Amino acid sequence: MTSEATRLDPPAKPATEAEQRIIIRGGNPLHGTVRVGGAKNSVLKKMAAALLAADVSVLRNVPNLTDVHMMAEVIRHLGARVTLSGNEVVIDARQVNEVEAPYELVSQLRASFVVLGPLLARFGNAKVSLPGGCAIGERRIDLHERGLKMLGADVKIEHGYVHVQAERLIGNRIYLDRPSNGATENIMLAASIAEGQTIIENAAQDPEIVNLADFINAMGGRVSGAGTYQIVIDGVSQKDLHGATIDTIPDRLEAGTFIMAAMATGGEIVIEGVNPHHLYSVISKVTEIGAEVSIYAPDTLKVRSQGSSRATDITTVPYPGFPTDLQAPIMSILAAAEGTSIITETIYENRFMQVGELRRMGADISLKGNAAVVKGVPRLMGAEVKATDLRAAAALIIAGLGADGVTELTGLSHLDRGYEHLEEKFRSLGADIWRR
Ligand code: EPU
Repeated sequence: MTSEATRLDPPAKPATEAEQRIIIRGGNPLHGTVRVGGAKNSVLKKMAAALLAADVSVLRNVPNLTDVHMMAEVIRHLGARVTLSGNEVVIDARQVNEVEAPYELVSQLRASFVVLGPLLARFGNAKVSLPGGCAIGERRIDLHERGLKMLGADVKIEHGYVHVQAERLIGNRIYLDRPSNGATENIMLAASIAEGQTIIENAAQDPEIVNLADFINAMGGRVSGAGTYQIVIDGVSQKDLHGATIDTIPDRLEAGTFIMAAMATGGEIVIEGVNPHHLYSVISKVTEIGAEVSIYAPDTLKVRSQGSSRATDITTVPYPGFPTDLQAPIMSILAAAEGTSIITETIYENRFMQVGELRRMGADISLKGNAAVVKGVPRLMGAEVKATDLRAAAALIIAGLGADGVTELTGLSHLDRGYEHLEEKFRSLGADIWRR
């Protein structure tokens, strides 16, 4: 095990909006093979889950992202020792003794709110800053609150903090009004060491939830049904939980980003290290609009595209439906497709921030409530654009790869939260893209 003195390596390129930009000369068809990393949205939750056991856990296939470094800061603040070497994170949660996660940390990384469940379950109380809204929506936590109350916790929101306290947590049947990922995770984590059985109805079914349940089970927990709408958690004693080692599932959103990029430029790429089962809705949609996607090997996809697509209508819905996180990337394809598409966003109130930037590139998109009417234009044109969130950043890179002329993207701190070496990976596929 590595010592506490070993700090996480800094992210490869600390991007600040003022200093760095990605420059893309569009039009090069993509060819070659690329490998996706581990899923950010899975790793962050497993880092919180490691706090459940007073022991050492190892997470494998971890991408080197600023969000992972920020989550390490959060759990280190709580007393965990965290080391990252290569793509492995070792978390020693034996000395965890702090139950307060402050605003300055949680406000930087919403995902860190998921420490609430493990802290409550292990220590009987916790105080975690409310994360607040963000560029894409209000992002409420009422379902987390209600779920923990139903396990017997006293939950108070005061001065921007959620205070939770419970002498004992007792299993219950909890229905979620919507299949929230974060609420499913916080409840699942707390219920793992509650007394008796908890059933979460209308749970999030995402692969990241399954990976989290697998990790809890590897630690000695008893979770079944993850990946379906009903998750059953039989609580175990905290003392019976131990550290575990687990692989992180592939990042389906990174894979989706490469699929869209190949469609924007045309060409033929092989994407390795994916789980095609996690991408059915995406493969189905992109096939409908003109891409050829084949499962080349159990963990490998081949994508072939002429670089031209047809319009379609898309509605973002919880997994296994079309993911909100690929809504902006596919909009970049539909903006230059033949015909008019309607994209309806049902997960977030404000996830069309990329639209103004795509318009700067010549896109013809109008917004009507939670729908975007996208009239395809023959070609997008390179322009100076700015990312406002992670997936908007990916969308603008995809648009730039397919556009005529040069695109300059700023706002790279958003990109670096969730994509590792994205421009290097695109360069290896033949794109003319660099950072300066
Ligand atoms: N919601 C409520 N009440 C709650 C919880 C959620 O109304 O108590 C609402 C939210 O406001 C939001 C919707 O339900 O409008 C979905 O929220 P969810 O809890 O499912 O999202 P999350 O756990 O906060 C994760 C991902 C997001 C991804 C969503 C939906 C992480 C770290 N984040 O967020 O990923 O968009 O699930 O799939 O896992 C990204 O990677 O770019 C990203 C934003």
